[in-house]
Amino acid sequence: MHFPRTMQPNGTIRIAIQKSGRLSEGSVALLQNMGLSFETYQNRLFAPCRNLPVDILFIRDDDIPEYVRDGVADLGIVGSNVLDEQGAQVRRMLPLDFGYCSLSIAVPEQQVWKSVAELQGKRIATSYPVTLRRFLGERGIQAEVVTLKGCVEIAPTLRVAEAICDLVSSGSTLRTNRLRAIETVAKSQAILIASAAVTTGKTDMLEKLLLRACGVQEARKFKCVLFDVPRDAVSSLEALIPGSKNPLVIACADPLCVAAQVVVAEERCWDAVERIRAIGGRNILVSAIEKFFR
Ligand code: PRP
Ligand code: ZN
Repeated sequence: MHFPRTMQPNGTIRIAIQKSGRLSEGSVALLQNMGLSFETYQNRLFAPCRNLPVDILFIRDDDIPEYVRDGVADLGIVGSNVLDEQGAQVRRMLPLDFGYCSLSIAVPEQQVWKSVAELQGKRIATSYPVTLRRFLGERGIQAEVVTLKGCVEIAPTLRVAEAICDLVSSGSTLRTNRLRAIETVAKSQAILIASAAVTTGKTDMLEKLLLRACGVQEARKFKCVLFDVPRDAVSSLEALIPGSKNPLVIACADPLCVAAQVVVAEERCWDAVERIRAIGGRNILVSAIEKFFR
């Protein structure tokens, strides 16, 4: 694909994201949370940001590693499954905690096969031949790998293969096609990637964008907890709530009481609320953090 010259002004950062698919929504949300203002609508291939020298390219996810490797795009958001398959020479900057799925081997529901060991001598259709061959090799399974570009799930019905190896997210594609997963080959999530060769004049902007991406990602892992607590209980906070080092303490009108604020990991949040209540904490407000820079 060629982008007109006017769309490639010097110094403008290009970020490639999936045009339509599992990663599209999460990718757009991340970029918008990073403060990039741009329009999205169906069939759009290119969107300039209104507020920063950044262009968004909407392309097929399978093309993203190549675009980034070749420097056509400076950054990209892609599933680790695609990176592992292609072995593209790009820098993996940040796991993005969305787009979770597994590359799994599945067989028709009515088949008795329970593990990949039983697929000895059978045909497995996939769009991930490199990853699948590596997996089969490690397990010493001699199966024929049938490479298909898409619609892999229909291969058993068409008698092109006895089994498939494809991405499973919600599992609805497998259910619709009366297939059953029997083995996980690899796990995947979205990753922010960057070109290995950074063009002079782009470094500052790239660093800014990476800092923003980290701030957005970090914020998702924590909650802010604000509460009233008896003044004499403040000293026990650090021991009580792991990670709440140096809590912010603000005086209240009531001299026996203070307002305290701690930042806790999302998974420890409920536990923290219970512990705060146990030491007399009240009016506990738990809020999401929008950006978090440590
Ligand atoms: C994958 C895969 C299945 C679907 C599985 O496609 O090929 O079609 O997701 O998801 P489900 O378990 O929720 O039904 P993807 O979005 O990666 O598109 P692509 O295969 O065209 O790249
Ligand atoms: Zn794809």
